[in-house]
Amino acid sequence: MSAGRPRILLIGCDGQVGWELQRTMATLGEVIAASLCGHYGLVLDLLDRDAVISTIQRERPDFIINAAAHTAVDKAESEAELSGRLNAEAPELLGSLSAELGVTLIHYSTDFVFAGDADKPYREEDLAGPLSVYGQTKLEGEQRLLATGANAFIFRTSWVYGNHGHNFMHTMLRLFKDRDRLRVVDDQIGAPTWSRMIAEATAQIVNQLRLTPSDAEYLRGIYHLTAGGETSWCGFARRIAEFSGEACRIDPIPTRDYPTPARRPACSVLDNTKLNRTFGLQLPDWKVSLEQCLADRKN
Ligand SMILES: NC(=O)c1ccc[n+]([C@@H]2O[C@H](COP(=O)([O-])OP(=O)(O)OC[C@H]3O[C@@H](n4cnc5c(N)ncnc54)[C@H](OP(=O)(O)O)[C@@H]3O)[C@@H](O)[C@H]2O)c1
Repeated sequence: MSAGRPRILLIGCDGQVGWELQRTMATLGEVIAASLCGHYGLVLDLLDRDAVISTIQRERPDFIINAAAHTAVDKAESEAELSGRLNAEAPELLGSLSAELGVTLIHYSTDFVFAGDADKPYREEDLAGPLSVYGQTKLEGEQRLLATGANAFIFRTSWVYGNHGHNFMHTMLRLFKDRDRLRVVDDQIGAPTWSRMIAEATAQIVNQLRLTPSDAEYLRGIYHLTAGGETSWCGFARRIAEFSGEACRIDPIPTRDYPTPARRPACSVLDNTKLNRTFGLQLPDWKVSLEQCLADRKN
């Protein structure tokens, strides 16, 4: 590894998490930002195996961070092949290359790998049981990546929102402008997690691994990385309205009244103890982050 400032290949730098990572990682090392459009550095399509191989061989990064994925949960039901190529095959390829070249790989996964019928927050070793194509392909991605033997860190996060990209918070803010009453699902429980908090936690972990590279070999694996606390989509929507000063009435509805192509877990809260014990990290409560995110939006 280069002394001091590592070379960090950031794939998917234009997504919610990738966008925040561009900024936080720049304080740690030399970021080689790659996206489909190439606006921030390199053009890189994860579906193009040859391009992935030649980019990694040419750039010789110390770390690869993969923030790209097929994240359209409902669309994935009718795009299973594409979802599988991006969420399962691509992480495996990145893992193989990382193992071969001695690169430390950071990858993200999701609470949707779980069925959502547990009576307490899920731990990393709990049995997965995805209900959707998205959840299934993300789970396959975890398994295929770990099987490569790479020094890989997989951070399962949940309900991601932020000021850059498409997400539930933006949808609510747009709807508040047109409607004075909304009906939002109240029987799915999770932890809304600000993309910036994910990026900042990732940066702290990369920094620890940079300072003690030998840690990567025995700390590799899956970690849960979500905001503290929990809520429903309805609870989330109500806080978005409150913190943004919108006077919209938000009524709770059950999932059966809002049918979607993909099934979602009823309760997919993740237990972050392993992250805390291993890296000393604890993300703030989701309400604290949401308030900051909305304040940041106004500035
Ligand atoms: N969003 C959530 O609620 C959520 C929840 C739990 C876990 N996660 C996980 O967290 C990670 C980051 O999610 P996110 O919310 O930041 O996702 P996102 O905003 O949807 O960003 C994903 C990025 O991947 C890019 N991408 C798509 N196809 C690509 C390809 N063939 N080659 C290269 N890049 C490609 C997209 O580019 P275009 O926009 O140009 O297509 C986009 O910039 C993912 O692993 C996701 O599964 C997300």
